[in-house]
Amino acid sequence: MADEGEEIPLTGGDVTEGLVRVGDTVRRPPGERAEMVRDVLLHLESVGFEGAPRFLGVDSAGRQVLSYVEGEVAGRPHPDWIADEDRLISLARLVRAYDDAIESFGIPMNLPAPIEPPGLPAVADPVELVGHQDITPENVVFRDGRAYALIDFDLARPVSRAREMVNLMLWWAPLGADADVDPGFHGLDRLRRCRLIADAYDLSDPDRRRLMELAIALNERVWHTMKYRAETLGGGWQRMWSEGVGDKIKNRQTWLDQHADSITTALLS
Ligand SMILES: Nc1ncnc2c1ncn2[C@@H]1O[C@H](COP(=O)(O)OP(=O)(O)O)[C@@H](O)[C@H]1O
Ligand SMILES: [Mg+2]
Repeated sequence: MADEGEEIPLTGGDVTEGLVRVGDTVRRPPGERAEMVRDVLLHLESVGFEGAPRFLGVDSAGRQVLSYVEGEVAGRPHPDWIADEDRLISLARLVRAYDDAIESFGIPMNLPAPIEPPGLPAVADPVELVGHQDITPENVVFRDGRAYALIDFDLARPVSRAREMVNLMLWWAPLGADADVDPGFHGLDRLRRCRLIADAYDLSDPDRRRLMELAIALNERVWHTMKYRAETLGGGWQRMWSEGVGDKIKNRQTWLDQHADSITTALLS
């Protein structure tokens, strides 16, 4: 693996330290489940899925070498197109294409346990595929006004399609009050955007019915997980916690309790 070239730090994300661009590659210090991420990216390549970086190898510093995906990524403050409905629809279609492409990868066995508080009860939910599970604005590359690729597979894990939808709606409807989301997402019709997402993904009716119950259960759980990660891992996790992510999660709980029924109605009507 060639190592030459200037290293340009990539600072748009929240967590990964030491992420750099070198020429048309990205170098990532290995995350918690680096081997699974490698296998996921290789599988996506083998089935001809274009919407993800290619895994190119490991460099002499032990970093994963991925292709750099040219395009637009929303940094902060968010660009004015962040809430565009056509982009939202294209993103839900991209996530559907990803979920369909990764389904044949199967569910890997013997994964390292996720870093979570010991004894935290799991949310009852069927495992269907290795979901992306971190579909934030910073983790999507757009081209020509359409979602083109998902990047940053560090949180990929076995989940249900419904859980993948909760993650997409969380960041892009988004799920939460204006006061708790970035200004580019203020004043939006969340019910309509949840419906647009579900329709573009072609989410099944049974999944639409159970989506909000799942969203509430997952949100309760994530407060504990984020707190534990801040305490045990430090770094970007600690930074997010001291910036108040825990309060945002609690506020989202209130918002979800208030809006769950109307979102479910919007999804089914
Ligand atoms: N393969 C890639 N192609 C294009 N841009 C990338 C790629 N990987 C990372 N980036 C850019 O770097 C930023 C941070 O990378 P990311 O992998 O999301 O790290 P973090 O784990 O910190 O969120 C992204 O938001 C994106 O702008
Ligand atoms: Mg990221």
